[in-house]
Amino acid sequence: MPRDPNIERTQLDEDEESAELSLRPSAFDDFVGQDNIKDNLKVMVQSAKMRGKQLDHLLFSGPPGLGKTTLGHIIAKEMNVNIHLTSGPALERKGDLAGILSGLAEGDVLFIDEIHRLNTVVEENLYPAMEDFYFDIVIGEGAHARSMKLTLPPFTLVGATTRSGLVSAPLRDRFGLVSRLDYYDQPALESIVHRSAQILEIGVTEDGATEIARRSRGTPRIANRLLRRVRDYAVVKHADLIDQDLAQYGLAKLEVDELGFDYLDRLYLDALVSKFAGGPVGLDTLASAIGEERDTVEEVVEPYLLQLGFIQRTPRGRVASKSAFEHMDVVPPSKQGNLV
Ligand SMILES: Nc1ncnc2c1ncn2[C@@H]1O[C@H](COP(=O)(O)OP(=O)(O)OP(=O)(O)O)[C@@H](O)[C@H]1O
Ligand SMILES: [Mg+2]
Repeated sequence: MPRDPNIERTQLDEDEESAELSLRPSAFDDFVGQDNIKDNLKVMVQSAKMRGKQLDHLLFSGPPGLGKTTLGHIIAKEMNVNIHLTSGPALERKGDLAGILSGLAEGDVLFIDEIHRLNTVVEENLYPAMEDFYFDIVIGEGAHARSMKLTLPPFTLVGATTRSGLVSAPLRDRFGLVSRLDYYDQPALESIVHRSAQILEIGVTEDGATEIARRSRGTPRIANRLLRRVRDYAVVKHADLIDQDLAQYGLAKLEVDELGFDYLDRLYLDALVSKFAGGPVGLDTLASAIGEERDTVEEVVEPYLLQLGFIQRTPRGRVASKSAFEHMDVVPPSKQGNLV
């Protein structure tokens, strides 16, 4: 299926993207973890098939790289329908939405990435399409303009967002299921590494997989990326097996630390604990101190640090926890000198 050329890139360059495609699970059985979500979806798919109807609209939220797009593809495949991909920012005008809706066949999946970034006009025109499968179009101009209802085939909207808080209530209410994907646990990440190693035709020991999984920030996309980079070291060193030593060597070269924090994570933590003495410090101040976009900090860097309990979001700003100071090897301010 041709990709919409207007789709905005999200953090992936083309090489990474094609590498990801080859590792992307294409059926529920290959999709590791997220068991609750998977169970719900399987029942919904089965029921829709038995009733001979399209699947209800679905919204997936969660940090980047956890499998939202992958689930969209799996669902289309399980339902035997086509998937049409677009994104919030690509649907600039009402006409863009009309264009993509008029290309849908009965039961098709319309996948809208970054759905929190739809503009108001487009979003409001999406409501009747979702609810009653029609779209209002205006024909002619000025005094001769008249409105017509364009009937659409019943379809399934699958929305994905890294910022569920920014999805408006009326839009959210129109989804039959809203699912939040969580970071993956260690065993799930290990089996993802084993599965991907098989596809990449490289051997990996239990220890090697454990090491890569441990440093993947709970994220399948990162597990796969680290595996591919360590695979490169294996190839160059003429090793046909990734063991713990090789994994450690490769990951150290990639500047991924024991907790999986990369350069940006550590830059953030360093600014928070050293420059701002553990906070509280506002998001904008912190983001500009490390020269990073506010959105990237909030959507990519912070969720994992929050999950690990390294930082807190408070009304007065970001605050570092004791573990953040320990990890960065910095003494918390209250313990410095003889003041306290
Ligand atoms: N449950 C899983 N099991 C195995 N591999 C997975 C799983 N989830 C994700 N992956 C792998 O991680 C890659 C990234 O997943 P995906 O593109 O679906 O993430 P996403 O949530 O859509 O991220 P973004 O918010 O950046 O769009 C996939 O190509 C796939 O290889
Ligand atoms: Mg995606």
